[in-house]
Amino acid sequence: MMTYMAAVLLGLSVLTLQAEQDYIDPVPEVSWSFDGWNGTFKRDQLQRGFQVYKEVCSSCHGIKLLRFRELEAIGFTAPQVKALAASYDINDGPNLEGDMFVRKGLPSDVIPGPYKNDNQAKSVNNGAVPPDLSLIVKARKGGANYVKALLTGYMNPPVGITLRETEHYNRYFPDHKIAMAPPFVADDQVTYTDGTNATISQMAEDVTAFLAFVAEPEMEDRKRAGFETLLYLAFMTLLFYFTKRKIWKDVK
Ligand code: HEC
Repeated sequence: MMTYMAAVLLGLSVLTLQAEQDYIDPVPEVSWSFDGWNGTFKRDQLQRGFQVYKEVCSSCHGIKLLRFRELEAIGFTAPQVKALAASYDINDGPNLEGDMFVRKGLPSDVIPGPYKNDNQAKSVNNGAVPPDLSLIVKARKGGANYVKALLTGYMNPPVGITLRETEHYNRYFPDHKIAMAPPFVADDQVTYTDGTNATISQMAEDVTAFLAFVAEPEMEDRKRAGFETLLYLAFMTLLFYFTKRKIWKDVK
């Protein structure tokens, strides 16, 4: 009996230990315009989000799955996209002499990331590699809510927790110690041209919405196709029902 109770107690304490280790603060829910079966992206928000990505995140993170011309889907005009692409230098080659060369970006290029390779990324970030953000909203549990929470979740470490010089305390990061310094340090870090107030929360929300778009640029088409399929199925169901009634009406 005693050994049985001891075993139960041991089991319980192992369980609580595990629960503590898994513990991350619950991520607050944001009501995103793109939530739900008919949610859509807001073009002005995506444009602000791209601006935040470009001015704040792109020095450390790439979005290598996005091509410049896909920015037309968030409301940039073709000439704007062309000018934006041309402001980037792209390594290309080899040319006919076998040499690599640098040229201006074209709308068909993927947006180049900040590093030549992971080793370079590591060496300038104290050993941590900033992940490519193309699919991050899909790759993390909690999705967009998590990403926004992470960006705004920095705080002083609770008493008793010591951080290394390269670590920062974040409420929402698994194990709380993250190698990314707080990307937002003050309101108005970017200047929005549409008059939106650039609070830290607003910038975090805008860049997260943009990253949700990058992770699934075809989301709106997918939802529309899903809805149309349902309509079609409902119509066919009615059609078959009345056809059946007609065919069988003389059979009692
Ligand atoms: C100075 C470089 C730097 C900047 C600027 C920066 N990050 Fe990071 N970021 C990092 C590093 C390094 C990591 C890896 C952290 C780790 O694994 O501890 C990271 C990780 C992340 C993660 C992944 C967290 C996870 O769950 O694994 C996200 C999301 C992220 N950054 C988003 C952003 C966004 C959005 C911006 C711009 C608003 C930004 N970062 C700006 C360096 C940076």
